[in-house]
Amino acid sequence: MKKLMVIYWSGTGNTEKMAEAIAQGAKIDGVEVQLKNVRDASAEDVFSAEAVALGCPSMGAEELEDGEMEPFVESLNSEKIKDKPVVLFGSYDWGDGQWMRNWESRMKDYGANVIAEGLIVNSTPDASGLNQCRELGEKLANY
Ligand SMILES: Cc1cc2nc3c(=O)[nH]c(=O)nc-3n(C[C@H](O)[C@H](O)[C@H](O)COP(=O)(O)O)c2cc1C
Repeated sequence: MKKLMVIYWSGTGNTEKMAEAIAQGAKIDGVEVQLKNVRDASAEDVFSAEAVALGCPSMGAEELEDGEMEPFVESLNSEKIKDKPVVLFGSYDWGDGQWMRNWESRMKDYGANVIAEGLIVNSTPDASGLNQCRELGEKLANY
């Protein structure tokens, strides 16, 4: 069974809703999907999965959340992430997605195989945003 991980940080639930829709979309035949809040996740969860979705809203000033998500992402800077299929997602409000562009290039620098453009959704995902999330999950599962 192919194992997929969806790991996220969310302060007010928007990125969490995205994570749930991505996990839902990824649940295709032959694929086992695990959804975890980053506080319950370890780098090993990422290294041992066949493909991974990582989510975090834009925080600070166009940054990852610094208490849990930032150190977690830092812990992925390892040989073990080389060529791992990864997608990134997150909610934002007033910015233009700079945090996501930075995060994408960072994951590529780590050697991950970022298979799709980072999915960003303004505030609470609406029906169309959730649909994009499900499609992204399906794409990751089919990769
Ligand atoms: C401390 C803080 C900093 C934020 N910084 C940014 C930012 O730099 N750019 C942006 O577009 N949104 C920023 N936001 C807005 C959040 O990204 C937005 O509210 C998002 O929907 C939160 O997602 P969540 O519900 O998953 O926590 C910030 C929010 C907070 C609380």
